[in-house]
This record gives sequence, structure tokens and C-alpha cells, in this order.
Amino acid sequence: MNLHAPSNGMTGESDLSQADFERIAQVAKSGWGLNLDKSKRPLIKSRLNKRLRALALPDFTTYCALIEANDKHEIGHFITALTTNVTSFYREVHHFEYLENAVIPDLMARAKRGERVRLWSAGCSSGQEPYSLAGSLLNFDKEACSYDLKILATDIDALVLDKAKRGVYGQDDCTFPSPSHESRVLKRPAGDSHRQVCEALQSLISFRHLNLVDHWPISGKFDVIMCRNVAIYFDKPTQARLWSRFSQCLQPDAYLFIGHSERIADPEEIGFCVAGTTTYRLRPMTKSSSGI
Ligand SMILES: C[S@@+](CC[C@H](N)C(=O)[O-])C[C@H]1O[C@@H](n2cnc3c(N)ncnc32)[C@H](O)[C@@H]1O
Repeated sequence: MNLHAPSNGMTGESDLSQADFERIAQVAKSGWGLNLDKSKRPLIKSRLNKRLRALALPDFTTYCALIEANDKHEIGHFITALTTNVTSFYREVHHFEYLENAVIPDLMARAKRGERVRLWSAGCSSGQEPYSLAGSLLNFDKEACSYDLKILATDIDALVLDKAKRGVYGQDDCTFPSPSHESRVLKRPAGDSHRQVCEALQSLISFRHLNLVDHWPISGKFDVIMCRNVAIYFDKPTQARLWSRFSQCLQPDAYLFIGHSERIADPEEIGFCVAGTTTYRLRPMTKSSSGI
């Protein structure tokens, strides 16, 4: 008898009971802020069935025990199965146009004077977002790599971070708003079907593993934070905490860009004013707010 036969002989998939789904949702929420409502049950069932098969586990109840025990090896796979990593180069291109017209000229002038300039792509997935940022910076000033100017790019999913660090993309990943955007980022085709990002871009970026709902080992403030299409997977209180934490690690006058379907409910309350579509700017410190 096969002790590990899946519980649904028709589809070859194990059934995911409501109770086990709730255990999974609880681990996802407490660990990473991910909000798995019941509409996600079929998707989670299908994605995690692959893990059950890979581990030769008999059912979801056994799998739940593994992740509740914070099994080091499995947690990485669990996160990869749960997260959505869809991204593209120059996604929501209006944000990059805004940056290039209204933000980068000033940032670059400061960097040229020797000031420290920092940008953060939070929830960077496989790297297209930070590489697009780097492409815009280097397009404005070819010397950008010689200044104290850096992009931090973070994600919780180790698999996508590895891809981001390699900076090698298949044809399907290589869609751009225009050929000139493409030539800022990718080297010329080398004959095979894969494309490599330019080394200069890579030298501007540090890729790090970071969970946005946990402690942030970050020192110093940022001039730009892009956190787009990430908070949409969090519940409202987790989103509100995230926006507030971002406001605390931005310089006065600095910018936060969020995803097209995300909103900050009450931006003024945490010091932001609306600067554009899904674009917020931290208000400059006034004498009274700085306590002077
Ligand atoms: C849909 S992608 C967005 C990528 C990119 N920002 C964009 O808009 O194209 C969402 C990313 O957020 C990451 N993510 C989800 N929860 C996270 C958390 N708690 N901490 C850090 N990253 C997280 C996922 O791993 C995924 O790569």
C-alpha cells in the first residue's frame, strides 16, 4: 500500500481542508503580512501540492506542522509558492518619467557635490524595478557610479533575488516601453536567447533579503523608496504600518512610489503630501515639527 497516495485520486492532488487552509493563512500572515483570503484557497492548494509531492508528504495537515515548526529548508519554498513575483522593466513608466523630470536632476546634483544619495526598491522581485531605476540614473549621468549613490533592492523570496543578482533575462522578460529604455539596461544580444544587464547598473545596486513586516537592518535615510505592488498582498493594518515606517526612513522632501492599485488612506497624518499618481512626498521639516 502506498502510504503517501494523494487524498484525491482523480486529480492526483491532495485536498486542502478549510482548517488546514486557515493554518497556512495564519503562518503567512504572522510571518510575512500576507493576506490569504478564502478566494486564494484553490491557488494555494495547487501551488503547495507541488511541495507535498516534492517532499512526499501524505497530506496538508503534515505540511502545516512542518511550516508551523518554521522548518528552515521548507520556509523558503513556502514563500516562493505564496508570493506573486510579476514584474517588468519600466513597469508603470509614468513613475520613471516623474523621477527623470522632477527628482533625478536634483538627486544627481547633490551626488555630484559629494552628498550621500540612497534609493530603495522594496519588494524588487527578479530585479527589473531596481535595474530600471539604475538605467534612469545612468542615462542622466554616465558618471553616476563614481558618486556616493546607491540603490538597495530587497525581497523576501530568495529565488527571485538570485535571479535579480544574476541579471540575466529570457526573451519573455525583456519587454520595454521603447528601444531606448531597453538600450539603457541590457547589453546587446550576444547571439543566444538570453540577455545580460549592463555591469554599470549592477554596480549601483545591493540586493538583500529583507522581510518588510519584520525588523529592517537599515541605517540612514532614503531619498526615494519604490514599494510597488507589494502592499496589495497585505491587510489594511499591515499596509498602514508599512506606510508609516517608510515615512520614518525617508529624508524630508523625499519620495515614495507605490503600486497602481495601492493607496495611502490618510497621507497627511504620516507627513506625506500627494505629489502625483500613487506618488507621495514627505513634507519638509518645519521649525515647529523639528522642535527648533
Ligand atoms: C508583484 S511583485 C512586485 C515587484 C515590483 N515591485 C513591481 O512592481 O514590478 C511583489 C514582490 O513582493 C515581495 N514580497 C511580498 N511580501 C513581502 C514581504 N513581507 N517582504 C518583502 N517582500 C515581499 C514578493 O516576494 C514579490 O517579489
